[in-house]
Amino acid sequence: MAGILKKLSIKESLSARLLLFTICFVLIAEVLIYVPSIANFRENWIEQKIAEANIAILVLEAAPDYIVSRMLTDELLISTENYSIMRRFDDGMDPQVLRAMEPYNVSARFDIRNVPWTESVRDAFETLIFMNRENYLMEVTGNASGEYGGEIVVVFDEILLCHDMLIYSRNIVLLTIVISLFTAMLVYYSLSNLLVRPVQKITDNMIAFRHAPEDLTKKFIPEDREDEIGLVMQELARMQDDVRKALNQKDHLAKLGGAISNINHDLRNMLSSAQLVSDHLSTIDDPVVQQLAPRFVKAIDRAIRLCENTLQYGGSEVEELNVKTFNLHNLVDDVTTSLGLYENENIKLQNNIATEQKIKADNDQLFRVLMNICRNAVQAIGETGNITINGIVENSQITVDISDDALGIPEKIKENLFQPFKTGSRGGTGLGLAISKEIITAHGGTLDLLKSDASGTTFRIILPLNN
Ligand SMILES: Nc1ncnc2c1ncn2[C@@H]1O[C@H](COP(=O)(O)OP(=O)(O)OP(=O)(O)O)[C@@H](O)[C@H]1O
Ligand SMILES: [Mg+2]
Repeated sequence: MAGILKKLSIKESLSARLLLFTICFVLIAEVLIYVPSIANFRENWIEQKIAEANIAILVLEAAPDYIVSRMLTDELLISTENYSIMRRFDDGMDPQVLRAMEPYNVSARFDIRNVPWTESVRDAFETLIFMNRENYLMEVTGNASGEYGGEIVVVFDEILLCHDMLIYSRNIVLLTIVISLFTAMLVYYSLSNLLVRPVQKITDNMIAFRHAPEDLTKKFIPEDREDEIGLVMQELARMQDDVRKALNQKDHLAKLGGAISNINHDLRNMLSSAQLVSDHLSTIDDPVVQQLAPRFVKAIDRAIRLCENTLQYGGSEVEELNVKTFNLHNLVDDVTTSLGLYENENIKLQNNIATEQKIKADNDQLFRVLMNICRNAVQAIGETGNITINGIVENSQITVDISDDALGIPEKIKENLFQPFKTGSRGGTGLGLAISKEIITAHGGTLDLLKSDASGTTFRIILPLNN
């Protein structure tokens, strides 16, 4: 059992997949955060540069004619890491300039005032993608500080910006890895505790139960939790209890059925011997014997029928059908004869089945069915009455209606009419209709009570003709 679960590879295991998914989702979230944040970093970096330039250019304010020495200019440019700083005024005054001695070429010009964010993102990625551009000088224009207003223009090497952006990106990547691993571990731990482990416990138990449902040592003990998993556990425990009980009951019933079957078998043999004796008894010419013998014979007949019916119903193996084609009209006549109705003036059985009506079925079994339904009718009629058997052929099936004009089936019996051992009366076993229904169903047909009231009862058999 444990082997089956162990067979789940890392790729298939729920916990491993959850771990991978969590890492992926955190990474995606971090990328979404990184894009605007790198653009923001670049903007801040440039604004910082402009702020430094604003301070550096203030030196010129204090100098006579706004001119400082070459040495101070170089020092200011080196310390602010710029090639040039220039301040332009709005009112047409001459610009103030700090400029490197050696000549340089500006490669790109930007104005950081009012840049849309899409452009800002694009510029940031351009800087990162072309990070190895040599001597790529950027000229950036921003607002000048101070009371005179105007703008400030700085020229610097892009590599400085690129370098700082790379450090920032590396930090973000490291942070992302740490956060995603940490989150994934937390999610993994909580999910495996809340979900995976209990599901595994349920699965283990279900497999164990399937292998040995009667083993009480493998009884599932639900955890004390209120959530959906707790509900599943409680239901599983309840279901296992029910199934176990049902299996036990079935097992006991099967054993009991086997024992009854054996007893019945022996009993039937004993009764057969008793029947032989009873047949002899009825020939003895003694008035007392003549009076008692018929009751004795009847009792033995009933006992034999009970044995046979119980044996047939309790037989675990379904009896094979011995199917052959025969005349149905004649079969009904046989039933009439067996019930002694030919000699009976008071109970009439009218056989309305077509005289040439053939059917392909098990002769003996069908005889049993008709015999039982007709005997029930005879018993219900009592003194005088009529039984009618009609047969209508339609769509390669025959509908046989067996009607009598007795007082109908009592309501209480009707409820369980086809249930075994529930309806027996007048010395019957209550198995006749249950067995009849089984036989007809085995033939692919149906047996139902069509109607039963004070004017009489009609049973309907529908059978495929199979000719
Ligand atoms: N035509 C009928 N009219 C009135 N009651 C009927 C009729 N057919 C059946 N019943 C009632 O239904 C009950 C069940 O019939 P069923 O044939 O299943 O058992 P049974 O005749 O009592 O016993 P068994 O047939 O096993 O000897 C009968 O006991 C009887 O009370
Ligand atoms: Mg009967």
